[in-house]
Amino acid sequence: MTVGIDSLAIAVPQRYIELSELARARGVDPAKFITGLGTRRMAVPDPGEDTVALAATAVHRLLDQTGVDRSRIGLLIVGTETGVDHSKPVASHVQGLLGLPRSMRVFDTTHACYGGTAGLMTACEWIASGVAKGRVAVVVCSDIARYGVGTAGEPTQGAGAIAMLVTEAPRILAIDLGVSGSSSADVYDFWRPHGRREAVVDGHYSIECYLDALGESYRSWRAQARERGLISPVATGLSSESLARVIYHVPFPKMANKAHAHVMRLELDDAAGHADAALDPVVVAGRFEQQVAGSLRVCAEIGNAYTGSLYFGLLGLLESEAGALANQRIGMFSYGSGCVSEFFSGVVQRYAARMVGDAGASAILAQRTAITIEEYEQVLALAADAPLPIAPSPGGYRLEAIRDHRRIYVAG
Ligand code: HMG
Repeated sequence: MTVGIDSLAIAVPQRYIELSELARARGVDPAKFITGLGTRRMAVPDPGEDTVALAATAVHRLLDQTGVDRSRIGLLIVGTETGVDHSKPVASHVQGLLGLPRSMRVFDTTHACYGGTAGLMTACEWIASGVAKGRVAVVVCSDIARYGVGTAGEPTQGAGAIAMLVTEAPRILAIDLGVSGSSSADVYDFWRPHGRREAVVDGHYSIECYLDALGESYRSWRAQARERGLISPVATGLSSESLARVIYHVPFPKMANKAHAHVMRLELDDAAGHADAALDPVVVAGRFEQQVAGSLRVCAEIGNAYTGSLYFGLLGLLESEAGALANQRIGMFSYGSGCVSEFFSGVVQRYAARMVGDAGASAILAQRTAITIEEYEQVLALAADAPLPIAPSPGGYRLEAIRDHRRIYVAG
């Protein structure tokens, strides 16, 4: 049985800022944000575009696009680390707002940026196990990344939601089930204590934790992929080259450069039997351009979308290259601080170009409005229960108010 991502849809905040303007406002050389971090633009949600509103808007679009029979949905999972309540999940709001069937499982999955992958794997395994009995799953990644004005993390904020329909015989990506490498460790690299809207982060240490986890996950995936015959048991050249493309979790686009160089370095070390094998920077740059760069376009437009980041990478890649990648295997690396990670793979399906095109991501991104740094600071200063008085666009949802600790949403 093949199982995986059949279709997808997105929702992003209506406003964004240019990172070059943010750099100037902070007295930083714009090259640090643009070249050093690889960022370009950053989505700026107002309190009306909270995690629920973004998730519900993405699911509404997914249902509209696919016309899936709602009674066939047996599982709704929202991967998020920026939920709106300690107890009531985002998924429960989405189920109510969209009028989804009552006869299904509805819950959130949380482990920093890994929550969406936890949801996707759960959904795939639910279908593959036979328990789904022909039903389908909706998995949504929805998050708002906030570090706060003037912090080192400020240029790596962002927001967005991506909803995926997970089915048998998927039309976008068939996941190589059972071939995935995981790595976890109890570390304080990034966290958000209860009651805080902004994350706390040990930035440089978090990059080390990410790369350590990537090394372990990748080696584990590689061993399993060789055993299953997905890649040559005695690879000539680097095993990672047998993947047509590799997509990484992207807290900021430059992280993908570091990640791919790390994979290449550890493969050379493994082949040489010792650490610190020499890496030719020209070869590294060439491999990066060929295997990774294509997945960064959408991420560079919205910033870190936490759980959604990896899947915005998939969308960005397939929007431009799905035709050329049909029937080819790609690798994906999911990282959640704290930490847990997973390297997995899948085969791009022949209808991927059409299915991804249906999401209309380029048009959605093009309809956004650029705001000034002053306006951005005003939006960030708004209380969580003080959304801007704006009507939702057709098919969209917004938080209108919070009364008696209950959140009131309006649909466009
Ligand atoms: P920083 O210390 O301000 O920046 O914060 P820096 O000094 O390290 O500079 C960044 C890069 O810009 C460096 O490049 C500089 O050389 C370069 P590198 O050496 O690393 O290749 N640079 C310049 N380039 C050109 N022209 C210039 C110039 N100046 C400097 N003039 C940091 C950077 C990422 C630490 C900060 O933004 C931060 O704390 N971000 C948040 C944490 C983060 O994103 N961590 C990533 C890994 S953890 C993760 O991915 C999980 C996460 O998504 C959360 C979750 O799981 O839920 C975050």
